[in-house]
Amino acid sequence: MEYSKVITIICLIFVGDSRGQAADFQTFPDGFLIGAASASYQIEGAWNVSGKGESVWDYAFHNMLKQVSDDSNGDIACDSYHKYKEDVQWIRDIGFDHYRLSLSWPRILPNGSKDRVNLDGIRYYRNLLEELKAANVTTVVSLYHWDHPEVLEEIGGWTNEVMVERFEDYAKVVFDNLGYLVDIFVTINEPEMLCFDEPVNSSEATARGLANDVASYLCVHNALKAHAKVWHMYDENYRATQGGIIGLLPVCRGWVSGDGVTEESIERYFQFGCGLVLHPIYKGDYSEIVKTTLADIDVYRNRSFSSLPVFTDEWVKMIKGTNDYFGLNHYTSRIPVMEYGARTSDSGVLEIRDKSWPITVLDRLEVVPEGFGNLLRKIRDEYDNPPVYILENGFADSGEILDYGRINYHYDYLSELLTAIIHDGCNVKAYTIWSLLDNFEWDRGYSISFGIVKVDFTSPNRTRSEKLSTRWWKEVIRTRTLIKPPAPGSTSSWGGCFECDLTNDKS
Ligand code: BGC
Repeated sequence: MEYSKVITIICLIFVGDSRGQAADFQTFPDGFLIGAASASYQIEGAWNVSGKGESVWDYAFHNMLKQVSDDSNGDIACDSYHKYKEDVQWIRDIGFDHYRLSLSWPRILPNGSKDRVNLDGIRYYRNLLEELKAANVTTVVSLYHWDHPEVLEEIGGWTNEVMVERFEDYAKVVFDNLGYLVDIFVTINEPEMLCFDEPVNSSEATARGLANDVASYLCVHNALKAHAKVWHMYDENYRATQGGIIGLLPVCRGWVSGDGVTEESIERYFQFGCGLVLHPIYKGDYSEIVKTTLADIDVYRNRSFSSLPVFTDEWVKMIKGTNDYFGLNHYTSRIPVMEYGARTSDSGVLEIRDKSWPITVLDRLEVVPEGFGNLLRKIRDEYDNPPVYILENGFADSGEILDYGRINYHYDYLSELLTAIIHDGCNVKAYTIWSLLDNFEWDRGYSISFGIVKVDFTSPNRTRSEKLSTRWWKEVIRTRTLIKPPAPGSTSSWGGCFECDLTNDKS
């Protein structure tokens, strides 16, 4: 046999076809960041403490405008406002490289106006960020994770363009007072969730929901303007001295192939999904497919105006290029199939869920790791392989302490991710677990859990404790390798009994 052929065969034996075979690629690349995320309303509590104003969520829950399956709210949540030092201790013990938190806008500007800054709010976040810095943790801070001051909702919230200016005022106060402690800023968490939640069947993101598609597109339009203005403000006035990076954070679903999936159905699904906010940022303006499709729908509905607002050339330029990194939240996937006959969606695509997919307790979030890989490769191709920071990915269960489902989920998604990096050259820099703690899961309250650390919501102390996934993550981070999930009742290779002193009885 020729020498070169022998070499090729030996290489193939070691490398294999890496797609789907994570065993070949278990080590995380140098410098890869692993962290966990949270959001202010979901963990802080202290809703009316030390000068905080009322948020849109406080108002909605206190006035029964939004239903929660266990009739709870975020008044106390994980009480992280008081227990932040303990939270940071968990972060330090597990070994995370970074922690993503969000700021409560009304804790900083109680009535939405820059003329009344709540110094106690600033002090709280400064203490928290300093604690993280002292623990050598990279800080990722979302300016906005859906909790704006109620007074701004009363003037129409994100459907009112005034929000753009209010958001700039708020961001300036944050940059001036806290920016020096922040490594990575997120402007707006998931504008698509924020803007396409409906009052009926609303799930999360908006306390009130938005009336219709016109309001939704207006909301996206204003959110993009607000994001761009704040990116430019940071870029021009703060970047040089504070040295951070800043970007928008969309949520993108992935997809897998199936009967009826075509290039067009994938493209429409993507462009009407997170592409709606990404196209203006990476390519300039809304995509042609979105503009022409919505224009046709307007004609069909006999609308005398465009449901998709139009950006002036000046705004197109202002928005284009305003992402220092590609932030990505991702949970699940669909099978996108063209709709024929009566149309039920703006995209013209049906989003099918395969009954064979493993489900989670949150019925919209099936486990489909393959779709994650497809999404990462699409981002590579569509946006010129930008640095991608996964800032949310996680698994919902009923609070089990022996949370094998969660460990398997992270393992499977990380296998896809490592394949995408190593085999497919995707430029992924970070992975962030949703969530550090069990917390207030919007319309599902405390009835379901995403945390890798357990919180006892029946104890006044909101006691935190380990789960099996806490241990698994510690070991993954310590060794920087993707460790195979343990089998129930098994003995770990690194420390005797894996489940020792943990039982589901405590859940
Ligand atoms: C949101 C989180 C939420 C999670 C799970 C994400 O879209 O950013 O706030 O808890 O999904 O539903």
